[in-house]
Amino acid sequence: MIRHACLAAALLASAAAHAGPAAPGTEHHAFHEALALSIEGVGPVPPDPGNRWADDAAAADLGHKLFFDARLSANGKVSCATCHDPAKEFQDGVPLAKGVGTTDRRTMPVAGTAHSPFLFWDGRKDSQWAQALGPLESAVEHGGSRAQYAHVVAAHYRRDYERVFGALPDLRGVPAAAGPVADPAARAAWERMPQGQRDAVTGVFVNVGKAIAAYERHLQPAASRFDRFAAEWKRTGTQPKDVLSADERAGFALFVGKANCTECHNGPLFTNNEFHNTGVPRRAGLPEDHGRLPAVAGVRADEFNCRSRWSDAKPGECKELEFLAPASAAQERAFKVPSLRNVAERSPYMHAGQFVTLAQVLVHYNRAPSAPAGRTELRPLGLSAAELGQLEAFLRSLSGGIDAPAKYRSAP
Ligand code: HEC
Ligand code: HEC
Repeated sequence: MIRHACLAAALLASAAAHAGPAAPGTEHHAFHEALALSIEGVGPVPPDPGNRWADDAAAADLGHKLFFDARLSANGKVSCATCHDPAKEFQDGVPLAKGVGTTDRRTMPVAGTAHSPFLFWDGRKDSQWAQALGPLESAVEHGGSRAQYAHVVAAHYRRDYERVFGALPDLRGVPAAAGPVADPAARAAWERMPQGQRDAVTGVFVNVGKAIAAYERHLQPAASRFDRFAAEWKRTGTQPKDVLSADERAGFALFVGKANCTECHNGPLFTNNEFHNTGVPRRAGLPEDHGRLPAVAGVRADEFNCRSRWSDAKPGECKELEFLAPASAAQERAFKVPSLRNVAERSPYMHAGQFVTLAQVLVHYNRAPSAPAGRTELRPLGLSAAELGQLEAFLRSLSGGIDAPAKYRSAP
């Protein structure tokens, strides 16, 4: 990933300058790993060239309101916050998310996703603003249509909207429900609309996504006890013994050493932002999920990607999309590597909530079963029950809650 590769290179360079190369298993190696995982490395959110309003304060205020507004749904009951509940680390605690219907995947955390080049478990969106438009038109999530949402904006947010984006288009004659959605009546109404009117409605819809993204950029994971451990170590040059327990420290050594977790969960957000097949079992009753494999073409063809007419990016600014390699067989059932920050607070785990406890997740990694489709990238670890307990203790030290301005931590 372009911008993360730069960050990793910078961290490596600074680590190398600090103390020379470090062999795995040594105290030096562990020290470098602790620094590389420390939240200090997160830095400011990267620019989003596709969203001119990404860092606009009034856009973020509007996005905050929209994020919590259930009028943006088919039944008036579903908002983003229905599934992304701020009281639950912006998740919902259930294996499969429930909106107007039930989805085939688990709700993902929102904090820190401004750093993600690709969004969703399969990465089929390349920005937060494009991502936000997905659930709004999904039949099982918000279940409404872009014409409906444009009318909601005109009726309830005209002033807020026009302050940021300029005059709303004239929506007279736009049907109450119309969009390229599953509902046949709304789809037929959309097809009957003149192109100019469709573009006007889509323009408002896109700006809803851009405002929500401006809000989401303010949600970041906060420092955990692990980060205090890393900061203390950096400050004193010796591993502190009074921040993490002996088990948590042993778990850290396993995480960066024998258990090989940092192969994928690396960098200050504990993710390489890539997609991997880790042999997670299917969940009964769901259609086959191929993960990243079909989504590579999906993001290239997406109506709202960084190179689309709805994006504010200039030519050459969509590096992630431009350098995206074609799909390969290794991406069968590969899923996004989730951040492990606050992981203990948001059971269940994996893309369809296949595991309820962290202990179950760790048993999976220890056994490394063959994948239901494609090929797992894991190898059995041979860790003892005591070592698995230490790894779990370490994962629990990654909780620090959410870092966001007070007004953005709950409903407006
Ligand atoms: C019905 C529950 C539900 C609603 C409503 C919902 N989401 Fe989600 N969210 C999910 C699920 C499930 C996923 C993962 C879906 C997938 O991978 O296909 C997800 C994924 C995401 C992600 C991707 C995170 C990542 O790391 O890639 C973001 C960001 C997000 N949602 C924000 C939003 C916003 C903004 C809204 C409102 C416009 C919203 N969600 C509405 C359930 C929901
Ligand atoms: C080859 C890459 C890879 C390695 C190595 C790896 N992980 Fe993961 N991890 C993933 C992916 C991908 C997922 C999501 C898989 C899915 O949902 O199907 C995941 C999910 C998780 C989750 C669940 C988080 C959530 O929000 O659902 C935890 C906890 C976790 N990993 C911990 C670990 C630990 C501890 C190790 C070391 C023993 C480890 N991982 C090694 C790629 C990896």
